[in-house]
Amino acid sequence: MAVRYIRVGSIDQLPPGKVKGVRPWPGYRMAICNVEGTVYAVDDVCTHAGGIMHYGDMVRDELVCPVHLAYFSVKTGELTDGPKCDPIRTYPVRMDGNHIEVGIEE
Ligand code: FES
Repeated sequence: MAVRYIRVGSIDQLPPGKVKGVRPWPGYRMAICNVEGTVYAVDDVCTHAGGIMHYGDMVRDELVCPVHLAYFSVKTGELTDGPKCDPIRTYPVRMDGNHIEVGIEE
């Protein structure tokens, strides 16, 4: 399956330690996260009970769901702490200069 990359913003608007919600394509809601200068993308909807992930905080390389405080690694999507639930989906990210691009499957 091919991956299509879609521009979702500039690194200038996403400082290290920050997270932002984006909708790159119909049906895709993602939280993009800057971990010490590297950007990661995960699903913006928590697998536990549907919390909106980009309203949560970053703690090192983990994003914390604001609803019941599930911690997910933004690198792997694995649940690292909090209520038992499935991993969160991750998406490929690449940079084109200062522009952040996320990958979706076609
Ligand atoms: S909805 Fe995210 S931890 Fe419950």
